[in-house]
Amino acid sequence: MKSMELVKVLGAVGALAVAGVAFFTFERPPVNVVQRGYRGTGLDEIYNPRHLAAEAALNKVPAMLPQMQVGPLAKTVYKNVQVLGDVHVGEFTRLMASMTAWVAPKEGCAYCHNVNNMADDSKYTKKVARKMILMVRDINSNWTDHVKKVGVTCYTCHRGNNVPQYIWFKNDGPPEAGGFAETYTGKNLMIGPDHSSLPYDPYSAFLKQDPHTIRVQSTTALPSGDRHSIKQAEWTYALMIHFSTSLGVNCTYCHNTRAFGDWSQSTPQRVTAWYGVKMVRDVNINYLEPVQSMLPAYRLGPSGDGPKVFCMTCHQGAYKPLYGAAMAPNFPELYLASADTSTDSGDSGMTPAAPTETAPATATEPTTPSTTPPAAAPPAATPAPTTPMPPAASPAPTAQPPQP
Ligand code: HEC
Ligand code: HEC
Ligand code: HEC
Ligand code: HEC
Repeated sequence: MKSMELVKVLGAVGALAVAGVAFFTFERPPVNVVQRGYRGTGLDEIYNPRHLAAEAALNKVPAMLPQMQVGPLAKTVYKNVQVLGDVHVGEFTRLMASMTAWVAPKEGCAYCHNVNNMADDSKYTKKVARKMILMVRDINSNWTDHVKKVGVTCYTCHRGNNVPQYIWFKNDGPPEAGGFAETYTGKNLMIGPDHSSLPYDPYSAFLKQDPHTIRVQSTTALPSGDRHSIKQAEWTYALMIHFSTSLGVNCTYCHNTRAFGDWSQSTPQRVTAWYGVKMVRDVNINYLEPVQSMLPAYRLGPSGDGPKVFCMTCHQGAYKPLYGAAMAPNFPELYLASADTSTDSGDSGMTPAAPTETAPATATEPTTPSTTPPAAAPPAATPAPTTPMPPAASPAPTAQPPQP
């Protein structure tokens, strides 16, 4: 009798456990599958309409003021314009109003300005903002391999927040025991990207310094000189989880999982992502790290470093930030001017430096956003690899493990 009851209790506990695992581990239906590669390759994207609906609400394009390319140039009117001198006063004012809406909607002009003297640079936020304008111009003009014609504005990252919602700091993790005691090597703590127990700070290793390659698959037959380790693979996977989470996609959005490393079997999006890594490094090294010294202590992270950018800062869960709506071309002053645009030509007078496409001077209607990328049209008879290789690609896999 007793043992029968025990069995019943155990059965009930077991059933509960199974239900719990099913509930917390699997995605509640419905799910939609979009085929993006050749049949049988498993290059499918899995979407949940529930998640997409929630995400779509966060990726609405804000209202934009119409362009105002009128008035004299700012440098002839204002006292302290170091960056926007060649912008017409009308457009300058429009940009100030837009920046306020994008970065400091609650605080207004006073967030960056001493309102008794607009030329005064005493607020750190104004100095940071100036650097941010330079950064945005650099991204829009020199990183078109990643941001294409869509470009970025302050809104792409800030979305009405003083500091963007998604940033990262160097993470030294909890203290480790010394000596022979087991060390975390940055993992096994469920605080990695997207609650994985992978290394929790792949960003310092991969997104702010240059030489670390993101390669783990051996390109030579074993045992000759292959130094790629499980540890190295874990660092790479931690970063990849961040890619997937940031874009709201599966690994197969970029990879054919039968050969993660092979460019010819990867999707064109992987090449865009490859440029994205380079761009993020450039932005962190040349803009965010220098800005750090301007920031008050309360903006710094636990290790004393300033906030930095990763994929999530712009993408915020969408395959393209704001589903690819082109806001930036409506703001020609957010592109680098070619050397001689200071001439007061009456029109926008802003042509981005080569090799980028000209920024349309007239307002363009943001493309109707689609929450999911269009399904690729694969089936040609033979899988002709169309993926362009990244130029100067494949830095030969080097020996050093990606340790911060
Ligand atoms: C996010 C920060 C920020 C906000 C908010 C902001 N500004 Fe500015 N403002 C700047 C920066 C940076 C400059 C300097 C640009 C340069 O050096 O080219 C500037 C310069 C100016 C100047 C030129 C002052 C001079 O004589 O040199 C005026 C005028 C101005 N802003 C007006 C405004 C107004 C009006 C608002 C509110 C609608 C506003 N700004 C909101 C960052 C900001
Ligand atoms: C690629 C993402 C990105 C874009 C685009 C961007 N910012 Fe930022 N911004 C950041 C990050 C990250 C921080 C926090 C780090 C810092 O303050 O240096 C920041 C901080 C700031 C701050 C300091 C806020 C504070 O309270 O400390 C200001 C002001 C600012 N940005 C203005 C702008 C303006 C104006 C633009 C557009 C011309 C812009 N940003 C575009 C990423 C971005
Ligand atoms: C947005 C595109 C994208 C997504 C999504 C993505 N990856 Fe990657 N992955 C890349 C790029 C780009 C590289 C190469 C980076 C480099 O070489 O600098 C890479 C490299 C790798 C490598 C190393 C290949 C080699 O040459 O050794 C592995 C393994 C990998 N990814 C696994 C994954 C896994 C697992 C996922 C899903 C969790 C994933 N990736 C999601 C773009 C992506
Ligand atoms: C400064 C903002 C910014 C950051 C940071 C950023 N991206 Fe992007 N990304 C964009 C924009 C804008 C587009 C849209 C370009 C277009 O229209 O094709 C884009 C497009 C992409 C695409 C192409 C999607 C498609 O369906 O064609 C991939 C893949 C991608 N990003 C991956 C990444 C990865 C991986 C990272 C981090 C290493 C990253 N991005 C960081 C702004 C950014």
